[in-house]
Amino acid sequence: MVLSFDRWVGKVAVVTGASSGIGAAIAEQLVEKGALVAGLARRRDRLEQLANKVVGKKGKLYPVEADISKEEDILKAFAWIKENLGIVHILVNNAGVAHNGSLIDDKTEDWERVFRINVLGLSIATREAIKDMKANNVDGHIIHINSIVGHQAAPNISVYPASKFAVRALAETLRLELNSMKSKIKITNISPGLIDTEAIPPQMKTEEFYKEGKIIGPDAIADGVVYALSTPPHVQVVGLARRKDRFEKLANKFAGKAGKFYPVVTDISKEEDVLKAFAWVKENLGPIHILVNNAGMARKGNIHDGDTEEWKRVFKVNVLGLCIATREAIKDMKANNIDGHIIHINSIVGHQAYSGTSVYPASKFAVTALAETLRLELNSLKSKIKITSISPGLVDTEILPQDFDLGTFYKEGKIIRPEDIADGVVYALSTPPHVQIQELTIRPIIDFF
Ligand SMILES: NC(=O)c1ccc[n+]([C@@H]2O[C@H](COP(=O)([O-])OP(=O)(O)OC[C@H]3O[C@@H](n4cnc5c(N)ncnc54)[C@H](OP(=O)(O)O)[C@@H]3O)[C@@H](O)[C@H]2O)c1
Repeated sequence: MVLSFDRWVGKVAVVTGASSGIGAAIAEQLVEKGALVAGLARRRDRLEQLANKVVGKKGKLYPVEADISKEEDILKAFAWIKENLGIVHILVNNAGVAHNGSLIDDKTEDWERVFRINVLGLSIATREAIKDMKANNVDGHIIHINSIVGHQAAPNISVYPASKFAVRALAETLRLELNSMKSKIKITNISPGLIDTEAIPPQMKTEEFYKEGKIIGPDAIADGVVYALSTPPHVQVVGLARRKDRFEKLANKFAGKAGKFYPVVTDISKEEDVLKAFAWVKENLGPIHILVNNAGMARKGNIHDGDTEEWKRVFKVNVLGLCIATREAIKDMKANNIDGHIIHINSIVGHQAYSGTSVYPASKFAVTALAETLRLELNSLKSKIKITSISPGLVDTEILPQDFDLGTFYKEGKIIRPEDIADGVVYALSTPPHVQIQELTIRPIIDFF
């Protein structure tokens, strides 16, 4: 575990929309962890209530009255923070409004209000925070609280999805800008599903919704913020095997730990091997609760002059082997009534193609689709088995070509370690049963791809 919040203790964190819901939960957790939190919102009384609630904790909450839809208010708030609290190290852009309505007959003012708060206010606050971080040489962290409708539109909430699509683009554009400046300021985009806050109508907060696992509390999002902030400076948020000798070494290394490691020599590209491995596990260890589909291979090469046999090998391991293992694990979980967890170790090239590694990106795009298809299937079965896709950037492992200059990559912050991915797996597994981390992108602070 390399997660630690220590570097933020005693440092200034700005949380917008801290007077209720998700923002209040984030502000509270950051104070508990030791940050000096400037909580921005229009309702001063609510901010003061929260400040009183957290008195005596490790950090402190400072109420700052500001209307995020007004630029002068944001500038005044940042000036006050600079003068009274110090340099901004963290900014959580959480303030946001949803709007029930339609694109066909809404009023222009309603659209303007949503964009002024969700997009323009967020952009102004981000610019001000980064200005302060840069002027003081601070490798800070910006977090946008987005939404799943920032990835997939939904009807009857007017321009709200459009505003959240814009937030996603803003997060990615900022990441690219920071990268081109070789800045180590981080940007994380967190996209919650349905969260129980004042923004949600009462008919969606029923016991039934909770029982069916359709809504979660704001603390789950605050946990995600703390996880992202706790990754090491070079990490950006976001066993079965063939080699027996390696396995035995690992089993020895793990001796004396709380759990136990059982080597099962398996070639994932061969269905009979996978089935045999699952049968052995069933007979010797018991029902499966967790499956981490990590086995994968990459090969240098092209599509225009590539080798068919090589392509087949990549798809057999990365796609077909993963499908077979997933099916077998779920069969076992269902037969034993276990709400287990499947984790696919995907890649950022499963979201954005990259040339030079032939069909590898295509195999990982397939993994993205497989994770989402499985989530929809499990949902339609009302199953509480979880599926998480974790997409690492460049990780220092043996999959990398021999000629990579790792020393320079480390110096430039272009590579992360396998432990950073393991931390993401433990985080996803540690969320409560009703919380599903759908996609976690964990990349080096500076882009390689
Ligand atoms: N609840 C969900 O299901 C859900 C799902 C996905 C994403 N989100 C996102 O999560 C964020 C927080 O929402 P929530 O559900 O926690 O809603 P909430 O309980 O209604 O909280 C919204 C917060 O935003 C602040 N805010 C709104 N307009 C503001 C303005 N003009 N100036 C300053 N602050 C303003 C509010 O403070 P004042 O009213 O005191 O100003 C309040 O603290 C939003 O960005 C939302 O889009 C929510």
